[in-house]
Amino acid sequence: MAAKQSSKTIIVSNRLPVRIVKEGEKLAFMPSEGGLATGLGSIYKQGDNIWLGWPGAVLNTKAEEAQTKKELKEQNMAPVFLTEQDIELYYEGFSNETLWPNFHYFNQFSEFNHEYWEAYKAVNQKFADQILKNANPNDTIWIHDYQLLLLPALVRAERPDISIGFFLHIPFPSYESFRLLPWRRELLLGMLGADFLGFHTYDDTRHFLSSVSRLAGIGNEHGHINYNNRQIMADALPMGIDYDKYAEVAAAPETLEREVRYRTSIGSEQLILCIDRLDYSKGIPQRLKAFEKLLERYPEYLEKVSILMVVVPSRDQVGKYKELKEEIDLLVGRINGQYSRLSWTPIHYFYRSFPLHALSAFYRMAHVCLVSPMRDGMNLVCKEFIASKLDKKGALVLSEMAGASKELSDALLINPNNRYQMVEAIREALEMDEKEQMQRMTVMQNTLKRYNIYNWVDLFMNRLSIVKKAQRSLTTK
Ligand code: G6P
Repeated sequence: MAAKQSSKTIIVSNRLPVRIVKEGEKLAFMPSEGGLATGLGSIYKQGDNIWLGWPGAVLNTKAEEAQTKKELKEQNMAPVFLTEQDIELYYEGFSNETLWPNFHYFNQFSEFNHEYWEAYKAVNQKFADQILKNANPNDTIWIHDYQLLLLPALVRAERPDISIGFFLHIPFPSYESFRLLPWRRELLLGMLGADFLGFHTYDDTRHFLSSVSRLAGIGNEHGHINYNNRQIMADALPMGIDYDKYAEVAAAPETLEREVRYRTSIGSEQLILCIDRLDYSKGIPQRLKAFEKLLERYPEYLEKVSILMVVVPSRDQVGKYKELKEEIDLLVGRINGQYSRLSWTPIHYFYRSFPLHALSAFYRMAHVCLVSPMRDGMNLVCKEFIASKLDKKGALVLSEMAGASKELSDALLINPNNRYQMVEAIREALEMDEKEQMQRMTVMQNTLKRYNIYNWVDLFMNRLSIVKKAQRSLTTK
């Protein structure tokens, strides 16, 4: 009898959990502190497992590529190299100017460009080639996010029996939005190369299943899809955070020391915290206008309440992001220009990223965390805020358009299009008594402790193996 081949897991995402920064001739490898990287650390760092993806910089020489491969191999990673043209057409183009706006219901921003589509197909193929070079038939492949929707089917075509999981980190839009894409059918069939497909919410799953039946004509029942004689499963698995890590960092001496320093320089009695990547889906201008309205309607907050707003630079080569940056700069300037006093600034605005201990100090200082996206797959900032509140004091105002709102019903939920509701929710949060803050926080903390990132990874892998076992038992019957 032939010896059983050992099996490994291959994680695949557009970005690796490490980013190359070019310093003159030298390459520096910066690890990512993102939640996904932490959670999947328990997988890709084991044994022969690997994580495949783009290392975040365009490399120009074979020597740079060789150095990158070597360095990454030591960390159980393998690079997929992208050219400048790939970045322009596949990443900035199809991924972020076509799919991203469509999936977030910003269809007026979606570009339908054939060149982008061709590049998207070619780069998905590039990823498939890398996987195929590394994969054995018994391996498990876990593919992540909207940049790689075609990849499951490309791998399936060459390895008909391999286990493939797919997780979408952004919303899956309603059929009415998704059907506007000229390549909707190809995209769905691409995803259906997977055996198990995970989404953050029940609604995302439902939207996906509806598109599968209405656009691809493939029937499904309770998340079970029969396609090409293969039983596929789709389900909701909301992603959590590394709760203990956030709670530990919030108790670290470095965080406490920063908190004291920051409190002295800000000086407001109450602080509202907002942290986002620069993105139109985050509703940053809408939120600034609500804050302006709050100051106009309730002048008693002048000189007492400030916003600390961190906007992390992102996708700055994409036109809509550049325009948004200008809009935010103007609004912040207008509001600060009108309301500032010598000893008080309404909006403390930072366009940069911060290290973890600084963010943790911000979470500790904040009386209110205001998370008001127009649309968000999950949103982890609100979860990090809750885990960092060791004394359970503070209130969360959360958009019902964020996937996280489905789990965090003890937040003050708002519709971000309703400015008056947002103003009143901020006021309610600022005025909430400590007993109520602690009651709400306790419920939310318990939820997040239980459904943490490690739990999410385990659940996903379990679901995938159950689907695979069921398929095998059907074929051997
Ligand atoms: C979202 C997406 C991720 C993406 C991240 C940062 O969270 O779901 O796939 O990596 O944004 O965006 P970027 O374009 O910088 O990778």
